[in-house]
Amino acid sequence: MLIDSEKVTSINGKAAKLGIGTNKVGGYNLFQGLNDQDGYDVVREALDSGIEMIDTAYMYGLGHSEEIIGRAIKGYARENFKIATKAAQDKNNDLAINNKPAFLKQSVDEALIRLQTDYIDIFYIHFPDETTPKYEAVDALNTLKKAGKIRAIGVSNFSLAQIKEANKNGQVDYVEAHYNLLQRDLEQDIWPYLNENNIKFVPYFPLASGLLTGKYTIDDASKFKQFTNDQFKVILQKIEQINKIAEKHHATTAQIVLAWYIKNPNIDTVIPGARIPSQVASNVETLKIVLSDEDYDRIDNLFKKI
Ligand SMILES: NC(=O)c1ccc[n+]([C@@H]2O[C@H](COP(=O)([O-])OP(=O)(O)OC[C@H]3O[C@@H](n4cnc5c(N)ncnc54)[C@H](OP(=O)(O)O)[C@@H]3O)[C@@H](O)[C@H]2O)c1
Repeated sequence: MLIDSEKVTSINGKAAKLGIGTNKVGGYNLFQGLNDQDGYDVVREALDSGIEMIDTAYMYGLGHSEEIIGRAIKGYARENFKIATKAAQDKNNDLAINNKPAFLKQSVDEALIRLQTDYIDIFYIHFPDETTPKYEAVDALNTLKKAGKIRAIGVSNFSLAQIKEANKNGQVDYVEAHYNLLQRDLEQDIWPYLNENNIKFVPYFPLASGLLTGKYTIDDASKFKQFTNDQFKVILQKIEQINKIAEKHHATTAQIVLAWYIKNPNIDTVIPGARIPSQVASNVETLKIVLSDEDYDRIDNLFKKI
């Protein structure tokens, strides 16, 4: 059953928004075989399709992802999409994690130049460091928020205790963390705190780095070393069950997985990564899918335990 995206929002009430992840846009230090043209085209495809957020970071190409995005957004109405970026890796100290106020302020200024924009919608502290009090780091970002350089404050890869410390003065707006159907631990501890404190949640690795697209087979087990062979087999069987739901919707496995997140009221924005524009085009089709409560619960139960 296909309907347009506006209706999806009204039917689901709290439907999550769709964005893109850009660690493969210019992230040559993290992945092989990337080229700038694909990265530029990925961003343009996303904006042409009406996606609502571009998620990047200094770490993706040591500023190169932000530079490609800065070029690609030219000509698009800036108010129609959000840009989220992150920093913490100190280029003057072997990329050691740094959350000091002066470093974060400089990072925001440098990101604004690379992105060729006047403001960053969400600025995340990419990783916590070991020494800076979290609320001091966040307080520095709050000064930048008041100055209009950033519009929301985020933290990423923080434990619950670290999120609580960061949010001591109620200034954290967003948390970004590793979450997908195969990695659901934070539902129990972090989500309740975020919901109680009006903090929005953005999951990263929504497609489990491509595994949840259904394109891998048992021969690819060695690419996913975090799972034992037995776990990998079980995961493939569960993905096979999603395939069946996908067939019913004339959709792909990835689209059904993304539709599940979009229907999840705990998620603010889903940011599947893409290497090439056709992946963006396919993932955006998710907005036309309405997952029934029954299908949602089936997938929920299927992936409760891996
Ligand atoms: N805050 C953090 O510390 C942190 C950490 C990691 C990521 N992130 C952010 O989260 C975003 C999402 O995570 P991710 O990109 O690493 O992983 P992901 O979204 O789970 O998987 C994305 C990958 O899956 C493949 N893919 C995507 N759509 C596909 C489709 N329709 N058909 C087939 N394959 C498809 C592509 O890889 P291939 O074509 O290479 O298979 C793509 O790069 C990142 O881009 C980044 O912005 C943040």
